[in-house]
Amino acid sequence: MNETLFRALVVEEAEPKRFVSSIKNRSLDELPAGEVLVRVHYSALNYKDALSSVGNRGVTRSYPHTPGVDASGVVAASDDPRFAAGDKVLVTSYDLGMNTDGGLGEYIRVPAGWVVQLPPGLSLKEAMMFGTAGLTAGLMIAVLVRNGVKPERGPVLVTGATGGVGSLAVAILAKLGYEVAAVTGKADAADFLKSLGAAQVVSRESVIETKRPLLKEQWAGVVDVVGGDMLASALKATRYGATVTCAGLVGSPELNTSVFPFILRGISLVGIDSAECPMAPRVEVWNKLASEWKPDCLETLTTEITLDEVEAHLRALLQGKAHGHYVVKMA
Ligand SMILES: NC(=O)c1ccc[n+]([C@@H]2O[C@H](COP(=O)([O-])OP(=O)(O)OC[C@H]3O[C@@H](n4cnc5c(N)ncnc54)[C@H](OP(=O)(O)O)[C@@H]3O)[C@@H](O)[C@H]2O)c1
Repeated sequence: MNETLFRALVVEEAEPKRFVSSIKNRSLDELPAGEVLVRVHYSALNYKDALSSVGNRGVTRSYPHTPGVDASGVVAASDDPRFAAGDKVLVTSYDLGMNTDGGLGEYIRVPAGWVVQLPPGLSLKEAMMFGTAGLTAGLMIAVLVRNGVKPERGPVLVTGATGGVGSLAVAILAKLGYEVAAVTGKADAADFLKSLGAAQVVSRESVIETKRPLLKEQWAGVVDVVGGDMLASALKATRYGATVTCAGLVGSPELNTSVFPFILRGISLVGIDSAECPMAPRVEVWNKLASEWKPDCLETLTTEITLDEVEAHLRALLQGKAHGHYVVKMA
Protein backbone atom coordinates (compact mmCIF):
# COMPACT_ATOMS: atom_id res chain seq x y z
CA MET A 1 0.00 0.00 0.00
CA ASN A 2 1.34 3.41 -0.89
CA GLU A 3 -0.75 6.09 0.72
CA THR A 4 1.42 9.03 -0.37
CA LEU A 5 -0.94 11.91 -1.11
CA PHE A 6 -0.56 14.32 -4.01
CA ARG A 7 -2.58 17.22 -5.45
CA ALA A 8 -4.57 16.80 -8.62
CA LEU A 9 -7.37 18.43 -10.58
CA VAL A 10 -10.35 16.10 -10.21
CA VAL A 11 -13.41 16.34 -12.47
CA GLU A 12 -16.58 14.78 -11.06
CA GLU A 13 -20.14 14.38 -12.30
CA ALA A 14 -21.94 16.26 -9.50
CA GLU A 15 -25.32 15.36 -10.95
CA PRO A 16 -26.25 13.82 -14.30
CA LYS A 17 -24.46 15.82 -17.05
CA ARG A 18 -23.20 18.54 -14.64
CA PHE A 19 -19.44 18.32 -14.19
CA VAL A 20 -17.43 20.18 -11.55
CA SER A 21 -13.65 20.47 -11.14
CA SER A 22 -11.67 20.98 -7.95
CA ILE A 23 -8.17 20.41 -6.60
CA LYS A 24 -8.12 17.34 -4.35
CA ASN A 25 -5.64 15.16 -2.55
CA ARG A 26 -5.28 11.79 -4.21
CA SER A 27 -3.27 8.73 -3.20
CA LEU A 28 -0.70 6.91 -5.34
CA ASP A 29 -2.79 3.76 -4.83
CA GLU A 30 -5.58 5.34 -6.87
CA LEU A 31 -3.39 5.68 -9.96
CA PRO A 32 -3.81 3.06 -12.70
CA ALA A 33 -1.37 0.18 -13.17
CA GLY A 34 1.72 0.91 -15.27
CA GLU A 35 5.46 0.32 -15.30
CA VAL A 36 6.62 3.91 -14.77
CA LEU A 37 5.67 6.26 -11.92
CA VAL A 38 6.57 9.87 -12.74
CA ARG A 39 6.67 12.88 -10.42
CA VAL A 40 5.18 15.51 -12.72
CA HIS A 41 7.07 18.84 -12.82
CA TYR A 42 5.14 20.50 -15.64
CA SER A 43 1.96 19.90 -17.58
CA ALA A 44 0.31 21.94 -20.36
CA LEU A 45 -3.24 22.78 -21.42
CA ASN A 46 -4.85 21.43 -24.55
CA TYR A 47 -8.31 21.66 -26.09
CA LYS A 48 -8.79 17.97 -25.28
CA ASP A 49 -8.24 18.71 -21.56
CA ALA A 50 -10.94 21.36 -21.76
CA LEU A 51 -13.32 18.82 -23.33
CA SER A 52 -12.46 16.24 -20.67
CA SER A 53 -13.12 18.81 -17.92
CA VAL A 54 -16.73 19.30 -19.05
CA GLY A 55 -17.61 15.63 -19.39
CA ASN A 56 -17.09 15.06 -23.12
CA ARG A 57 -17.50 11.25 -23.34
CA GLY A 58 -15.64 11.16 -26.65
CA VAL A 59 -12.54 12.09 -24.65
CA THR A 60 -13.20 10.62 -21.18
CA ARG A 61 -15.64 7.80 -20.58
CA SER A 62 -15.81 7.72 -16.79
CA TYR A 63 -15.48 10.14 -13.89
CA PRO A 64 -14.05 11.11 -11.35
CA HIS A 65 -11.06 11.78 -13.56
CA THR A 66 -7.83 13.82 -13.65
CA PRO A 67 -7.30 15.33 -17.14
CA GLY A 68 -3.97 16.37 -18.65
CA VAL A 69 -2.71 14.84 -21.89
CA ASP A 70 0.77 16.27 -21.26
CA ALA A 71 3.37 15.75 -18.53
CA SER A 72 7.09 16.13 -18.05
CA GLY A 73 8.89 15.13 -14.90
CA VAL A 74 11.26 12.77 -13.15
CA VAL A 75 10.85 9.00 -12.88
CA ALA A 76 10.03 8.12 -9.24
CA ALA A 77 9.97 4.34 -9.80
CA SER A 78 10.17 2.03 -12.81
CA ASP A 79 9.56 -1.68 -13.42
CA ASP A 80 10.92 -1.32 -16.95
CA PRO A 81 14.67 -1.57 -17.64
CA ARG A 82 14.52 1.33 -20.14
CA PHE A 83 13.82 3.80 -17.31
CA ALA A 84 15.34 4.34 -13.86
CA ALA A 85 14.44 6.55 -10.90
CA GLY A 86 15.83 10.03 -11.55
CA ASP A 87 15.45 9.94 -15.37
CA LYS A 88 13.96 13.10 -16.87
CA VAL A 89 11.08 12.12 -19.15
CA LEU A 90 8.05 13.41 -21.01
CA VAL A 91 4.74 11.74 -21.74
CA THR A 92 2.24 13.14 -24.21
CA SER A 93 -1.00 11.75 -25.57
CA TYR A 94 -1.67 8.01 -26.05
CA ASP A 95 -4.41 7.61 -23.43
CA LEU A 96 -2.87 10.00 -20.86
CA GLY A 97 -5.49 12.38 -19.49
CA MET A 98 -8.25 10.70 -21.48
CA ASN A 99 -9.10 7.46 -19.68
CA THR A 100 -5.79 7.31 -17.78
CA ASP A 101 -5.26 9.85 -14.98
CA GLY A 102 -3.30 12.69 -16.51
CA GLY A 103 -0.65 15.31 -16.05
CA LEU A 104 -2.84 17.74 -14.09
CA GLY A 105 -1.93 15.62 -11.05
CA GLU A 106 1.46 15.72 -9.33
CA TYR A 107 2.05 12.02 -10.18
CA ILE A 108 1.18 9.83 -13.17
CA ARG A 109 1.67 6.07 -13.59
CA VAL A 110 1.85 4.95 -17.22
CA PRO A 111 2.99 2.09 -19.50
CA ALA A 112 6.70 2.34 -20.35
CA GLY A 113 5.77 2.39 -24.05
CA TRP A 114 4.34 5.90 -23.63
CA VAL A 115 7.44 7.41 -22.05
CA VAL A 116 10.05 9.46 -23.96
CA GLN A 117 13.47 10.24 -22.46
CA LEU A 118 13.86 14.02 -22.37
CA PRO A 119 16.00 14.85 -25.44
CA PRO A 120 19.27 16.71 -24.85
CA GLY A 121 18.73 20.44 -25.41
CA LEU A 122 15.26 20.50 -23.84
CA SER A 123 14.40 21.36 -20.23
CA LEU A 124 11.38 19.84 -18.46
CA LYS A 125 9.62 23.20 -18.78
CA GLU A 126 10.48 23.58 -22.47
CA ALA A 127 9.13 20.08 -23.12
CA MET A 128 5.75 21.29 -21.86
CA MET A 129 6.08 24.64 -23.63
CA PHE A 130 5.75 22.39 -26.68
CA GLY A 131 3.63 19.56 -25.21
CA THR A 132 1.11 17.83 -27.44
CA ALA A 133 0.52 21.15 -29.21
CA GLY A 134 4.19 21.39 -30.21
CA LEU A 135 4.42 17.72 -31.10
CA THR A 136 1.35 18.11 -33.32
CA ALA A 137 2.69 21.28 -34.96
CA GLY A 138 6.01 19.45 -35.43
CA LEU A 139 4.34 16.41 -37.03
CA MET A 140 2.46 18.71 -39.42
CA ILE A 141 5.62 20.60 -40.37
CA ALA A 142 7.51 17.32 -40.81
CA VAL A 143 4.88 16.31 -43.41
CA LEU A 144 5.26 19.64 -45.25
CA VAL A 145 9.05 19.21 -45.29
CA ARG A 146 8.79 15.56 -46.43
CA ASN A 147 6.41 16.60 -49.24
CA GLY A 148 8.89 19.14 -50.54
CA VAL A 149 7.14 22.31 -49.34
CA LYS A 150 10.28 24.44 -49.13
CA PRO A 151 10.23 28.12 -48.06
CA GLU A 152 10.81 29.24 -51.67
CA ARG A 153 7.63 27.45 -52.83
CA GLY A 154 5.46 30.20 -51.27
CA PRO A 155 3.56 31.16 -48.11
CA VAL A 156 2.21 28.66 -45.60
CA LEU A 157 -1.21 29.32 -44.06
CA VAL A 158 -1.65 28.53 -40.35
CA THR A 159 -5.23 28.55 -38.98
CA GLY A 160 -6.24 28.95 -35.32
CA ALA A 161 -2.97 30.86 -35.15
CA THR A 162 -3.20 32.23 -31.62
CA GLY A 163 -4.06 28.80 -30.17
CA GLY A 164 -1.68 26.17 -28.81
CA VAL A 165 -0.95 24.23 -32.01
CA GLY A 166 -1.29 27.29 -34.26
CA SER A 167 1.05 29.60 -32.34
CA LEU A 168 3.75 26.94 -32.14
CA ALA A 169 3.35 26.16 -35.85
CA VAL A 170 3.75 29.87 -36.69
CA ALA A 171 6.89 30.13 -34.55
CA ILE A 172 8.54 26.94 -35.84
CA LEU A 173 7.77 27.68 -39.51
CA ALA A 174 9.11 31.24 -39.16
CA LYS A 175 12.26 29.87 -37.52
CA LEU A 176 12.70 27.56 -40.53
CA GLY A 177 12.47 30.51 -42.93
CA TYR A 178 8.90 30.07 -44.19
CA GLU A 179 6.68 33.05 -44.99
CA VAL A 180 3.77 32.44 -42.62
CA ALA A 181 0.23 33.77 -43.10
CA ALA A 182 -1.50 33.49 -39.72
CA VAL A 183 -5.30 33.32 -39.60
CA THR A 184 -6.95 34.61 -36.45
CA GLY A 185 -10.39 35.56 -35.21
CA LYS A 186 -8.90 37.93 -32.63
CA ALA A 187 -8.82 41.58 -33.69
CA ASP A 188 -5.98 42.42 -31.27
CA ALA A 189 -3.67 39.49 -32.06
CA ALA A 190 -1.57 40.98 -34.88
CA ASP A 191 1.35 42.15 -32.70
CA PHE A 192 1.51 38.81 -30.88
CA LEU A 193 1.49 36.82 -34.13
CA LYS A 194 4.11 39.07 -35.71
CA SER A 195 6.29 38.64 -32.63
CA LEU A 196 6.18 34.88 -33.34
CA GLY A 197 7.37 35.53 -36.90
CA ALA A 198 4.14 35.72 -38.95
CA ALA A 199 4.69 37.74 -42.14
CA GLN A 200 0.95 38.31 -42.68
CA VAL A 201 -1.97 38.27 -40.26
CA VAL A 202 -5.33 37.58 -41.89
CA SER A 203 -8.87 37.51 -40.53
CA ARG A 204 -10.96 34.35 -40.55
CA GLU A 205 -13.58 36.10 -42.72
CA SER A 206 -11.05 36.99 -45.41
CA VAL A 207 -10.01 33.32 -45.78
CA ILE A 208 -13.46 31.72 -45.79
CA GLU A 209 -15.23 31.57 -49.18
CA THR A 210 -17.93 28.95 -49.60
CA LYS A 211 -19.25 29.60 -53.12
CA ARG A 212 -16.54 29.18 -55.75
CA PRO A 213 -14.94 25.75 -56.42
CA LEU A 214 -11.39 27.16 -56.72
CA LEU A 215 -9.71 30.37 -55.54
CA LYS A 216 -6.56 32.25 -56.50
CA GLU A 217 -3.46 30.08 -55.90
CA GLN A 218 -1.87 31.34 -52.69
CA TRP A 219 -0.66 28.69 -50.23
CA ALA A 220 2.22 26.29 -50.79
CA GLY A 221 1.30 24.60 -47.54
CA VAL A 222 -1.41 24.71 -44.89
CA VAL A 223 -1.42 23.85 -41.18
CA ASP A 224 -5.10 23.62 -40.20
CA VAL A 225 -6.65 22.99 -36.78
CA VAL A 226 -10.06 24.50 -37.52
CA GLY A 227 -11.71 22.16 -40.06
CA GLY A 228 -15.09 22.99 -41.64
CA ASP A 229 -15.33 25.96 -44.01
CA MET A 230 -11.84 27.15 -43.03
CA LEU A 231 -10.20 23.93 -44.23
CA ALA A 232 -12.45 23.75 -47.31
CA SER A 233 -11.50 27.35 -48.22
CA ALA A 234 -7.79 26.75 -47.64
CA LEU A 235 -7.91 23.71 -49.95
CA LYS A 236 -9.34 25.89 -52.72
CA ALA A 237 -6.63 28.56 -52.38
CA THR A 238 -3.64 26.24 -52.66
CA ARG A 239 -0.82 26.52 -55.18
CA TYR A 240 -0.13 23.68 -57.59
CA GLY A 241 1.33 20.65 -55.72
CA ALA A 242 0.64 22.09 -52.25
CA THR A 243 0.33 20.02 -49.10
CA VAL A 244 -2.45 20.68 -46.61
CA THR A 245 -2.19 19.14 -43.14
CA CYS A 246 -5.22 18.91 -40.90
CA ALA A 247 -5.32 18.08 -37.20
CA GLY A 248 -8.29 19.76 -35.57
CA LEU A 249 -11.95 20.64 -35.52
CA VAL A 250 -12.37 23.75 -33.37
CA GLY A 251 -14.51 25.25 -36.17
CA SER A 252 -16.28 22.08 -37.29
CA PRO A 253 -15.62 18.36 -37.85
CA GLU A 254 -17.38 18.63 -41.24
CA LEU A 255 -15.52 19.01 -44.53
CA ASN A 256 -17.56 19.98 -47.58
CA THR A 257 -15.24 20.16 -50.54
CA SER A 258 -14.97 19.12 -54.17
CA VAL A 259 -12.32 17.12 -56.00
CA PHE A 260 -11.22 20.20 -58.03
CA PRO A 261 -8.21 21.30 -55.92
CA PHE A 262 -7.01 17.67 -55.89
CA ILE A 263 -7.40 16.85 -59.58
CA LEU A 264 -6.58 20.27 -61.07
CA ARG A 265 -3.74 21.30 -58.76
CA GLY A 266 -2.39 17.92 -57.65
CA ILE A 267 -2.55 18.83 -53.97
CA SER A 268 -2.38 16.47 -50.96
CA LEU A 269 -4.47 16.55 -47.81
CA VAL A 270 -2.73 14.76 -44.93
CA GLY A 271 -4.39 14.02 -41.58
CA ILE A 272 -2.26 14.22 -38.45
CA ASP A 273 -2.72 12.19 -35.29
CA SER A 274 -0.34 12.84 -32.43
CA ALA A 275 -2.15 10.59 -29.94
CA GLU A 276 -1.25 7.19 -31.39
CA CYS A 277 1.74 8.42 -33.40
CA PRO A 278 4.36 5.62 -33.24
CA MET A 279 7.49 6.14 -31.14
CA ALA A 280 10.01 6.53 -34.00
CA PRO A 281 8.47 9.62 -35.72
CA ARG A 282 7.49 10.94 -32.29
CA VAL A 283 11.10 10.86 -31.03
CA GLU A 284 12.34 12.26 -34.36
CA VAL A 285 10.08 15.32 -33.97
CA TRP A 286 11.01 15.75 -30.27
CA ASN A 287 14.69 15.75 -31.25
CA LYS A 288 14.01 18.47 -33.87
CA LEU A 289 12.01 20.52 -31.34
CA ALA A 290 14.94 20.25 -28.92
CA SER A 291 17.40 21.55 -31.52
CA GLU A 292 17.04 23.28 -34.90
CA TRP A 293 13.24 23.72 -34.70
CA LYS A 294 13.22 25.33 -31.23
CA PRO A 295 11.89 28.88 -31.73
CA ASP A 296 13.69 31.72 -29.96
CA CYS A 297 10.29 33.09 -28.89
CA LEU A 298 9.21 29.94 -27.01
CA GLU A 299 8.99 31.97 -23.77
CA THR A 300 6.93 34.70 -25.49
CA LEU A 301 4.18 32.39 -26.59
CA THR A 302 3.94 30.52 -23.30
CA THR A 303 2.18 31.58 -20.13
CA GLU A 304 3.07 29.70 -16.94
CA ILE A 305 0.15 29.06 -14.60
CA THR A 306 -0.40 27.05 -11.40
CA LEU A 307 -2.69 24.08 -10.86
CA ASP A 308 -5.11 26.40 -9.02
CA GLU A 309 -5.46 28.55 -12.16
CA VAL A 310 -6.15 25.66 -14.53
CA GLU A 311 -9.95 25.60 -14.34
CA ALA A 312 -10.39 29.21 -15.51
CA HIS A 313 -7.97 28.68 -18.38
CA LEU A 314 -9.73 25.50 -19.52
CA ARG A 315 -12.94 27.54 -19.74
CA ALA A 316 -11.16 30.16 -21.88
CA LEU A 317 -9.90 27.39 -24.17
CA LEU A 318 -13.44 26.11 -24.68
CA GLN A 319 -14.54 29.63 -25.62
CA GLY A 320 -11.74 29.97 -28.22
CA LYS A 321 -10.13 32.71 -26.11
CA ALA A 322 -6.75 31.01 -25.60
CA HIS A 323 -3.70 33.15 -26.31
CA GLY A 324 -0.64 31.05 -27.05
CA HIS A 325 0.17 28.01 -24.98
CA TYR A 326 -0.26 27.43 -21.24
CA VAL A 327 2.28 25.54 -19.14
CA VAL A 328 1.24 24.35 -15.69
CA LYS A 329 3.93 24.29 -12.99
CA MET A 330 3.32 21.17 -10.91
CA ALA A 331 6.45 20.97 -8.71
N1 LIG B 1 -4.82 15.56 -34.33
C1 LIG B 1 -4.04 15.74 -33.26
O1 LIG B 1 -3.16 14.96 -32.96
C2 LIG B 1 -4.27 16.95 -32.41
C3 LIG B 1 -3.36 17.32 -31.43
C4 LIG B 1 -3.57 18.52 -30.72
C5 LIG B 1 -4.72 19.27 -30.98
N2 LIG B 1 -5.60 18.81 -31.90
C6 LIG B 1 -6.81 19.56 -32.21
O2 LIG B 1 -6.40 20.79 -32.81
C7 LIG B 1 -7.36 21.79 -32.48
C8 LIG B 1 -6.62 22.97 -31.85
O3 LIG B 1 -6.05 22.58 -30.62
P1 LIG B 1 -5.33 23.66 -29.69
O4 LIG B 1 -4.87 22.92 -28.48
O5 LIG B 1 -4.41 24.46 -30.50
O6 LIG B 1 -6.61 24.56 -29.30
P2 LIG B 1 -6.67 26.07 -28.78
O7 LIG B 1 -5.44 26.41 -28.03
O8 LIG B 1 -8.01 26.22 -28.15
O9 LIG B 1 -6.61 26.92 -30.14
C9 LIG B 1 -7.59 26.86 -31.12
C10 LIG B 1 -7.63 28.19 -31.86
O10 LIG B 1 -8.50 28.05 -32.97
C11 LIG B 1 -9.18 29.28 -33.21
N3 LIG B 1 -10.63 29.04 -33.15
C12 LIG B 1 -11.36 28.72 -32.06
N4 LIG B 1 -12.66 28.55 -32.38
C13 LIG B 1 -12.74 28.77 -33.71
C14 LIG B 1 -13.81 28.75 -34.64
N5 LIG B 1 -15.06 28.47 -34.28
N6 LIG B 1 -13.53 28.99 -35.94
C15 LIG B 1 -12.29 29.28 -36.34
N7 LIG B 1 -11.21 29.32 -35.50
C16 LIG B 1 -11.45 29.06 -34.21
C17 LIG B 1 -8.72 30.25 -32.14
O11 LIG B 1 -7.58 30.96 -32.68
P3 LIG B 1 -7.75 32.37 -33.43
O12 LIG B 1 -8.63 33.20 -32.54
O13 LIG B 1 -6.36 32.87 -33.54
O14 LIG B 1 -8.42 32.12 -34.74
C18 LIG B 1 -8.22 29.35 -31.04
O15 LIG B 1 -7.27 29.99 -30.22
C19 LIG B 1 -8.39 21.12 -31.58
O16 LIG B 1 -9.47 20.68 -32.37
C20 LIG B 1 -7.65 19.94 -31.03
O17 LIG B 1 -8.51 18.90 -30.63
C21 LIG B 1 -5.41 17.69 -32.62
